Amino acid sequence: MSGQLRFLLGYEQLVKHLLDTLPEDEAAARAVGGDYERFGVLEHALLRGEGLRDGCVVIDVGCGSGRLATKLARYPALRYLGLDVVPELLDYARRKAGRKDFRFEKVDAVRLPSEPSTADFCAFFSVFTHILPEESYVYLEEAHRVLKPGGKAVFSFLEHASAASRAVLDANLAWVRERHIAGHLNTFLHRADLRFWAERIGFEVAALHLGESRFIEVDAECAAPSVAEGLYALGQSVCVLRKGGG
Ligand SMILES: C[S@@+](CC[C@H](N)C(=O)[O-])C[C@H]1O[C@@H](n2cnc3c(N)ncnc32)[C@H](O)[C@@H]1O
Repeated sequence: MSGQLRFLLGYEQLVKHLLDTLPEDEAAARAVGGDYERFGVLEHALLRGEGLRDGCVVIDVGCGSGRLATKLARYPALRYLGLDVVPELLDYARRKAGRKDFRFEKVDAVRLPSEPSTADFCAFFSVFTHILPEESYVYLEEAHRVLKPGGKAVFSFLEHASAASRAVLDANLAWVRERHIAGHLNTFLHRADLRFWAERIGFEVAALHLGESRFIEVDAECAAPSVAEGLYALGQSVCVLRKGGG
């Protein structure tokens, strides 16, 4: 492994640094990439577009400080499990969502602590962007195990061909050229590989959207003061995999 990779910060270190140096709300927002409200609205709207309704069982892997959980808290019968590697973020998300029945758990391995065929959605927003491709693959195997027939794995990812990912690509290139510290790992994935993964694991590729594609419909239910009704792009590419049989 290149010596440069030793400069990468783990998420725990990154969050600790933010919490030590910033007010809690700002640290919690910055730890997941900022724009707390906007991304919560877009993630919620995207899942609704994929069929999310009250009563669904949702596993939010890499739930961070709760951008999605706070939006899903409005559904009284929705069952939610948020997983992350950083306890401080789980704590914050739990308080912010304010739902006693929502579960938030720390993960130490690439494994989903759920029974087979029990979930409607496994969401991975801005998670495969920060772990190794092989870890993402194993998470998708796990998602396939725990999803009900017809359930969906929804994940965002970075791809070189997306204009929306260009700034991150340029930062990675600068990191290689100039050997300056880039922060945490930013991983790019390739569509051809995602199709191969899906076939090998047993998923059908239901959708693949470029990061700049305005495919997310924010309706009146999802809109917020800072995000009006309309069509939006997520800013990262999005893949939806469907488990067959539903
Ligand atoms: C960019 S943040 C996105 C958080 C959240 N999904 C959202 O959209 O607001 C990435 C999150 O993934 C978490 N993470 C990093 N590695 C992980 C892993 N191996 N398993 C689960 N979560 C992980 C980080 O702690 C962080 O909270």
